[in-house]
Amino acid sequence: MSDTSRILCPVLSQRIMSAEEAAELIPAGAKVGMSGFTGAGYPKAVPGALAERIRRLNAENSTPFRISVWTGASTAPELDGVLAEVDGIEMRLPFQSDPICRNRINNGTMDYVDYHLSEVSQYAWSGFLGKMDIALIEVAGIREDGSLIPSSSIGNNKTWIEQADKIILEVNSKQNAKLEGMHDVYYGTALPPNRKPIMLTDPADRIGEQYMVCPPEKVIAVVETAAPDRNSPFKPSDDTSKRIAGHILDFFNREIEMGRLPKELLPIQSGVGNIPNAVLEGLDAGPYKDLTAFTEVIQDGMLKMLKSGTLKVASATAFSLSPDGIKEFDDNIDFYRDKIILRQQDISNHPELARRLGVIAMNGLIECDLYGNVNSTHIMGTRMMNGIGGSGDFARNGYLSIFVSPSTAKDGAISAIVPMVSHVDHTEHDVKIIVTEQGLADLRGLSPRQRAHEIINNCAHPDFRPALIDYYERALHSGRGMHTPHLLEEALSWHRRYEETGHM
Ligand code: COA
Repeated sequence: MSDTSRILCPVLSQRIMSAEEAAELIPAGAKVGMSGFTGAGYPKAVPGALAERIRRLNAENSTPFRISVWTGASTAPELDGVLAEVDGIEMRLPFQSDPICRNRINNGTMDYVDYHLSEVSQYAWSGFLGKMDIALIEVAGIREDGSLIPSSSIGNNKTWIEQADKIILEVNSKQNAKLEGMHDVYYGTALPPNRKPIMLTDPADRIGEQYMVCPPEKVIAVVETAAPDRNSPFKPSDDTSKRIAGHILDFFNREIEMGRLPKELLPIQSGVGNIPNAVLEGLDAGPYKDLTAFTEVIQDGMLKMLKSGTLKVASATAFSLSPDGIKEFDDNIDFYRDKIILRQQDISNHPELARRLGVIAMNGLIECDLYGNVNSTHIMGTRMMNGIGGSGDFARNGYLSIFVSPSTAKDGAISAIVPMVSHVDHTEHDVKIIVTEQGLADLRGLSPRQRAHEIINNCAHPDFRPALIDYYERALHSGRGMHTPHLLEEALSWHRRYEETGHM
């Protein structure tokens, strides 16, 4: 495929138009399924043109023009940012991390449904989300027969294309043409009771097609773009993230010595962010070879591990690379292309597969309580940060579920270890290991009271440890239940104190 002719299907090349013309085809109130996952593979031009149209129409009319936006996961300022800025999003799902979106969600001017990412497509199929009107999908190219070459993420694109009545394609010539062949789109999913086992037993397995099927008659517009993905830079690893990584590596080494993990570990899942990236860097510096990844996104750390041979293959649904990462990938795509497989997110995050492969899940937390319940989405119990993303898909179904965080936030004003979490995303039953820069709590096989000791002593910051011990001891001797001791009248007092005084 040459960079000058990415639309090889004669019928579809007749439907090329500008982003502004395509945006005119999206009606008010439409449910729009857009491509995009962690800043990769989202449409770059039509959302901006639509936002302009919405701004204009809303200035002229009293009935607001708003749409529902369904994606794979987070996108970028050119999609979530511009549409949220003009108050153009009525309902958003299933994940976002955009500051303007977040403000609207938290000030009540945008509805948001936060789903496990593996489950979104079955919900769309089941029908309770309503009928999708339009799919707006970025692709790397259109083949002669109208099939689509996916771009830097797949996310929910297969489902959106199948579900929508009408499709708008953005063909982005900035996406590397050699992405072709790196995708594996599985057409064997179904709703119950018609499901069959998914025959994937190794992260390297290919079980599907390289291209996405797209009925040309549904395509109402094709827009050509040439724009890069979001590609946010990573912060260099700091002392905190290096210490967290060190605790995890010590733990892996102990587990290998005790014969509880193979020396190639088990397939790794790593959330995005600076700490998971530091863990990957730590693994890369260690003695590991031939590891595998069964994860959601490929970040810079994974590219480095593939380059060094620490990792032999990585399965994901999207890239999430820094500007340096994308340059490294583009410059060396021939090396990477047979070591990375991009799948749709209902397969990359599938519970059946995470359980079968025995994934080691590593994700971030906002706060964790004495008994191992984890909040990864809400600030002070009410304000949405990003969403649960794929953390629950992997944490519940993985072999080991590890949650990581600095022990304090906001310059030491907030303890990440609290008496009771202000919102629960991952229950004590799903959380196996907690790690902060202070140390690692291995909660496997422990009762709630034993877990409290492990978490307070190993993970809490020394500034908050005495107050946690005091709370726990008083709860223990309060005459209430001894299984999970709590002082209900005080359990959330740390959060209230922070809201009143700016310090827990
Ligand atoms: N109370 C208030 N704010 C807190 C907090 C707490 N207990 N803990 C963290 N924060 C704030 C930090 O101060 C920081 O805010 P800032 O950017 O304004 O400084 C922000 O939350 C992010 O924290 P940070 O420590 O930098 O961690 P992170 O970037 O690794 O993000 C999560 C942590 C939990 C927000 C992130 O991992 C996430 O969104 N997780 C859910 C989705 C997920 O796990 N996806 C991966 C699955 S594949």
